[in-house]
Amino acid sequence: MNRCTLNPAWIGKTFDDFLFRPQEGIATSRSKISLTSSLVAGVNLELPIISSNMDSVTNGSMAETMALEGGLGVIHRGQSIQKQADIVKQVKRSHSAIIDNPLCLPLCATIGEARTFCKKHNINGILVETEPGSNILAGVLTRRDMPWQDAFDNSSVKDFMTPFLKLKTAPYDIGIDDADRLMFEGRIERLPLINDKRNIQGLITRKDLRFLRERPYASKDSKGRLLAAAAIGCTGDYLERADELLSSGVDCFFLDIAHGHSKVLQQGVEQIKKYFPDTPLISGNVATGEAAQFMAQLGVDGVKVGVGPGRGCRTRLETAAGVPQLQAIREVWCAVGGQITIIADGGIQVDKDIFLALACGADSVMLGSALSGTDEAPGKVIVDPATHTKKKIYRGMTSPEAVLQSLYETSGNESEQEILDTPAEGQEIQVPYKGSVTDILHRIRGHLRSSVSYAGSHTLEHAREKITPDPLKFLVPLSLASQKESFDR
Ligand code: XMP
Repeated sequence: MNRCTLNPAWIGKTFDDFLFRPQEGIATSRSKISLTSSLVAGVNLELPIISSNMDSVTNGSMAETMALEGGLGVIHRGQSIQKQADIVKQVKRSHSAIIDNPLCLPLCATIGEARTFCKKHNINGILVETEPGSNILAGVLTRRDMPWQDAFDNSSVKDFMTPFLKLKTAPYDIGIDDADRLMFEGRIERLPLINDKRNIQGLITRKDLRFLRERPYASKDSKGRLLAAAAIGCTGDYLERADELLSSGVDCFFLDIAHGHSKVLQQGVEQIKKYFPDTPLISGNVATGEAAQFMAQLGVDGVKVGVGPGRGCRTRLETAAGVPQLQAIREVWCAVGGQITIIADGGIQVDKDIFLALACGADSVMLGSALSGTDEAPGKVIVDPATHTKKKIYRGMTSPEAVLQSLYETSGNESEQEILDTPAEGQEIQVPYKGSVTDILHRIRGHLRSSVSYAGSHTLEHAREKITPDPLKFLVPLSLASQKESFDR
């Protein structure tokens, strides 16, 4: 079904070609403007921002923070299946109201092993079971209980843990409010959930409860765990990868290749849909209405739009392939808008571009460079010896550096020689170090709310209902002089 044909006024147009004509404001308080939008049917994001599946943008820390702030992180696939699956697990465990199957060490473990275990899994406390695999609670050991001197490395955890008889525990079905009260009264940080045979069934931590109360808008699944998405390819070991990710609790697959409108993607989507029919699948990338219809016919839940607009991309320079990003978003909306969700991917340079993407057809927006350089993005901060300014690396996933890293980390993907023979369509750059991504997301949230207010709406949903059927009624095309007046600062 084609919703509409593309108005020729969109051809060749992207974000800086338009301003939005301010509408009479109706919002009484900007801070109350809802930005909820759908990721795929049945899954909403309070902040429709997704961090790119790039190895310089999204791994565990970014995915965790994105979900806590109401967005979503897509964990990149330039790493081994095991590493990617472990990161999904880590995100699903973090800040969850109830941690199912919490990590355990046996009574016979040593303090040295416990220390390594805490570091590896980034946790502050361990449930101790009577014997390896028994799943019967023997005690709790926290970092605070562990002596810091190496001399104790061979001592038993048994000598330092709080034993079962001194622990407060609760049944698995305890309500969150009751758990909170119990933990406050007992001044305890961890509440193991067990059955009448002392079998460990879950764990609640006060830190997680506090976090969830402070962030009612966090992106969560039906069990109160943070949402986590992960990227997969469509050749090599992608089915095995998808299977591991699913076992780790992933909520959504992003099947993502440079040229999504292709036979190879079709075969990949068909297999994923066959083996994992219940997991939402977003696929891409595409830049045309025909490609979006192709995706919709394959039965995907969402389509990712963007060929070459990204800051780390060289595709348009090297191959001449691409469609200006706002035109691409509009073309895709005309083809499949309302049928499957649309994720605008790449090319966002300033916050106003996000609102334009959403108003013109996207349901959510994926950001790479805008979120790079932050504490939560993978990679170390480097100090430029000449200027003493702090930087981080941001790189396209087909940059030579990212390709080599990925070949080193993974095996069983596309033929190594074929990858090495394909010239790069991405580049590595240094970006300024920006501190925490939380501040960037707060800024985006504020600007997006202001855009909605200027659009004469009280929610993003209302603004989109009004504008998206015919955005040109609301947009002012810019001359070179007006672009200069608007953007030269
Ligand atoms: P921004 O503009 O937000 O774009 O930095 C992020 C998006 O860029 C895409 N991407 C690439 N595109 N070659 C490309 O042509 C690459 O090597 C590459 N790496 C990432 C990707 O869609 C990402 O979300």
